[in-house]
Amino acid sequence: MHETVTTLLDEVKALWMVTESLSSFTDWPDDLTAGNSAPNHALAAEKIMAWDMPETSPTSPVCRAVQQAALHVNWQFIYTEAEVGRHFLDNYAYFELIGPTGHFHSDQCSAFIGYWGPGLFYPAHHHASEELYFVLAGHALFESDGDDPATLGTTAHRFHASHQPHAMTTTNSAILTLVLWRGPELSGLSQLVRSDN
Ligand SMILES: [Fe+2]
Repeated sequence: MHETVTTLLDEVKALWMVTESLSSFTDWPDDLTAGNSAPNHALAAEKIMAWDMPETSPTSPVCRAVQQAALHVNWQFIYTEAEVGRHFLDNYAYFELIGPTGHFHSDQCSAFIGYWGPGLFYPAHHHASEELYFVLAGHALFESDGDDPATLGTTAHRFHASHQPHAMTTTNSAILTLVLWRGPELSGLSQLVRSDN
């Protein structure tokens, strides 16, 4: 485990323990063990490292830790180029910090760090696990079936119920998020909502 990834875990824990929206969604896991995720590069890593983020937010220590760990984490891209296009895949990536296949293993919850560059539309998708988006930096428009749309910035959060379709649009800023999952299907993947079903 690269030391910057361990530092990131420590900073996420520190934020989680003092942030009501995170700690009331799910307790900090008490079953963490080191996983064996290998580094996997993404163009998004360089964009995150080059991002001049505010330094005075409660989320700043986590943002800095993400920047420092960006070349040492297992970036992933659930979707294919056929589904979301090349531009999307060049400006988005996420990694599983905590979870069944994360840098730190847990069966109690998952915690992902996700990045979307400016001017992206993340189409409606859903998954079995309940989800909490927490904004670490930047802002985006969140839309979900049955809820009012909202533009959310740093420290704001949004809940998605099991299989509730949700979409996200970035405008003039990128967004960096901490995404928590809870529920019985932590290993389940996100699926795009298709117009033909
Ligand atoms: Fe989601």
